[in-house]
Amino acid sequence: MTSAAIQSADVDLSRRAAKVVPGGMYGHQAIRHMSDSYPQFFLTGDGALITDVDGNEYVDLMCSWGPVVLGHRDPVVNDAVRAQMEMGDCLDGPGPVFVELAETLVDAISDAEWILFGKNGTDATTACLTIARAHTSRSVVLVARGVYHGAAPWCTPVPNGTLASDRAAMGYFDYNDADDFDRAVQAAGGDLAAVMLTPFRHVEGEDQELVDVEFARHVRNRCDQLDALLIVDDVRCGFRLAHGGSWESIGVRTDLSAWSKAIANGYPLAAVTGCEAVRDAATTVFLTGSFWMNSTPMAAALATIRRLRDIDGLALMQRAGARLRMGILAQAAASGLTIAYTGPDVMPYLTFAGDTDRRRMTCFAEAALASGVYLHPKHNWFMSCAMDDAVIDRALQGTEVAFAAVRKHFGPN
Ligand SMILES: Cc1ncc(COP(=O)(O)O)c(C=O)c1O
Repeated sequence: MTSAAIQSADVDLSRRAAKVVPGGMYGHQAIRHMSDSYPQFFLTGDGALITDVDGNEYVDLMCSWGPVVLGHRDPVVNDAVRAQMEMGDCLDGPGPVFVELAETLVDAISDAEWILFGKNGTDATTACLTIARAHTSRSVVLVARGVYHGAAPWCTPVPNGTLASDRAAMGYFDYNDADDFDRAVQAAGGDLAAVMLTPFRHVEGEDQELVDVEFARHVRNRCDQLDALLIVDDVRCGFRLAHGGSWESIGVRTDLSAWSKAIANGYPLAAVTGCEAVRDAATTVFLTGSFWMNSTPMAAALATIRRLRDIDGLALMQRAGARLRMGILAQAAASGLTIAYTGPDVMPYLTFAGDTDRRRMTCFAEAALASGVYLHPKHNWFMSCAMDDAVIDRALQGTEVAFAAVRKHFGPN
């Protein structure tokens, strides 16, 4: 054991966790999926910055994997949380904030005529499937290959412990490929309940792909022809790409949408919104959870949605994302490295050309981390409203070092 290891609070906590937690950590946050140099445990966050348990401060380009949209410990959201906490959080039923938030979101999201709340994105995507099947009395739900919709047996990317029957009524097609989609529709026969799509294609470790508007329209038309429902999984993109639904700007209507992550600036909340035609089905299915009616996350959501509008948060994130993109592209070019920088500016991802074993990307991420920038080598990054020009410039100082490290270790690509 090195003296550095002995002194590291993160190493100590990881070692203790390994004894009482299977694998030491699970899911996305298991740093064994990232790389050894990443910290596992964090002490605090402030605006665009996070601090690990050893006191290292980073520009946080992951925003807690999406939820932190205004910035860590946003004072307005936290005041709303404290005020609600004083009133009560977990009571025998919801508080007035439930109705106020429901009205606010139904008003904000143009395709929404009703709303249900849960906790996690998986609650929302799974509820969408249940409601769609209840509405149509059909079974098959089509999703795009490789796209993440959560950790339930019907959608987990790691099927250990699940049954083939958990996915028996799932069908798969390639995102943005209308022919492949039609083939999947055909295979569903007359049993197609719904199609679920994310607003754009974000698959771990791959270049991101914006939705082809013609493809989205095609899916909408097919759903209309077949009386199937179109579900948009807005869990990752919602309230970062738009104030309402992420597909409002392309004019493609959704029947059901799933929300979570940015909706409450990090407090645990998810939602399903739907159109009038599906309201009855949503009334008949049984959806519940011990903590689904807690008022504090709802107060956080109300404050988050209002604040995003008040400060024009989308424009702030767009400005930060554009500055980061321009800086990264310039640095890559100056380093003689060929990269792809894909996805919307507010949710970008970077890959190196020819980096099939991801060694360049791992080197880049580790060097960025050592230079005070927390980004993920395989998952898209997120902008927050707390990222002003100075923060982005600080991030770019770190990525400049990271490009130099890749160039030094691997040469030009
Ligand atoms: C598009 C999408 N859908 C669903 C989920 C699942 O959300 P949760 O992890 O909160 O259950 C995620 C989480 O990353 C997601 O990105």
